[in-house]
Amino acid sequence: MQTKKLVVLGLGARGKIYATYAKTYPEKFDLVAIIENDPDRIEIAKNTYPTAQVFSDYKDFLKAGISADIVAVATQDKDHKEHSIAFMEKGYDLLLEKPIANNKQDCIDIYNASKKYGRKVIICHVLRYTPFYSTVKRVIDSGKLGEVITIHASENVGYYHQAHSFVRGPWQNSKESSPMILAKCCHDMDIIRYLMGEECKKVSSFGDLFYFNSEHAPKNSAEYCSDCKVEDCVFKAQKIYLEQGRDFSSYFTTKELTDENVLQDLKHTQYDKCVYKSNNDVVDHQVTIMQFEKGKTATHTMTAFSKEIYRDLKIHGTKAELVGVIEENWIEIRPYGKEVERIEIDVSKANVGGHMGGDFYMMDGIYKDLNGEKADGVTYLDVSIESHLMSFGAEESRLDGGRPVDIKK
Ligand SMILES: NC(=O)c1ccc[n+]([C@@H]2O[C@H](COP(=O)([O-])OP(=O)(O)OC[C@H]3O[C@@H](n4cnc5c(N)ncnc54)[C@H](O)[C@@H]3O)[C@@H](O)[C@H]2O)c1
Repeated sequence: MQTKKLVVLGLGARGKIYATYAKTYPEKFDLVAIIENDPDRIEIAKNTYPTAQVFSDYKDFLKAGISADIVAVATQDKDHKEHSIAFMEKGYDLLLEKPIANNKQDCIDIYNASKKYGRKVIICHVLRYTPFYSTVKRVIDSGKLGEVITIHASENVGYYHQAHSFVRGPWQNSKESSPMILAKCCHDMDIIRYLMGEECKKVSSFGDLFYFNSEHAPKNSAEYCSDCKVEDCVFKAQKIYLEQGRDFSSYFTTKELTDENVLQDLKHTQYDKCVYKSNNDVVDHQVTIMQFEKGKTATHTMTAFSKEIYRDLKIHGTKAELVGVIEENWIEIRPYGKEVERIEIDVSKANVGGHMGGDFYMMDGIYKDLNGEKADGVTYLDVSIESHLMSFGAEESRLDGGRPVDIKK
């Protein structure tokens, strides 16, 4: 297979994974350019990937006429439309971060542009590529479960991850970024659609921002955690960013993540804000009910309120049920009237990225796809847009008290 030329637009948390993959596997991807507009990250780009050309403005890159097999668009949700259309117009194929865009019309505009310019767009639905969900899909396709009738999936965001990303961080406000069901759960909508193997016809959804608001602020709590005297607050920023959430600190510092640097650069940023006094409006719990073509059903529960970050899955078929937890790397197939079969999932080969091997296997799959080989899980915008329409439908339903919404492509 041939080495493919990769360009990364946005060297943030996601862009770094694609660049690191190319650096680790230079026989697969040649990182020809990085486009980044933050001065500190430009320096990181130059020092860490010295063979890549670095641009601070994507328009300069487009004028330079550099050839590439794929451009990873890893800027923020609200910028995806401008960036992806500009690159497609110039003839580049894309690896576009999810969500496709933060509103339905922009998603449709990107989809139409991909048709107009005849470009291939792969959406980073990383869960599809995880050994866990790939195994689940193979089990379904083998017929062991019989016909799949019901799927139940839950996404337990983790109290500290909710506080970082969806209360204080980039996805805190649906008007400025995306609603939760899109930002966080479009992966789950995609997986449910993928595993069900049928189009979703109708969704209904309920949910709310219950807890992370001024009503629940402790007495005498300050605006910023660094000024706050409340004892025993589990959401105290200094505690989160020095403990489980240390890696999240890259959202407010480009320095090495020592205790001293983290505490210094955190002070009085949005990440230091009291979780009960932030500019957040996205839900902290949401339940979505889905109906598929032949009347099959699925439910999805998203909740902020979990100790750990994990997703669990139950699939009920006519011959057996399947149960599993991705973060624990196990699946059980429980056939009716027969012995339980337990599968342990091996993710040890995935040495770049996260998502339980999803980032690693996605890049591997894209490499194969670009070389014309069959790659499990790789799908294009035509399919990905369906799961986004499910998310938009769910949000429309939630805002209208759970009214069922038809999903039309
Ligand atoms: N696939 C997944 O599972 C997954 C997980 C998290 C985030 N995401 C998505 O990935 C995207 C990026 O998220 P992130 O967490 O990496 O964000 P980030 O803020 O860490 O990274 C974005 C980067 O883009 C740069 N940038 C912004 N505008 C630019 C411009 N005009 N030109 C050049 N550079 C520019 C920023 O300086 C930053 O370095 C978002 O759409 C997000 O929703 C996907």
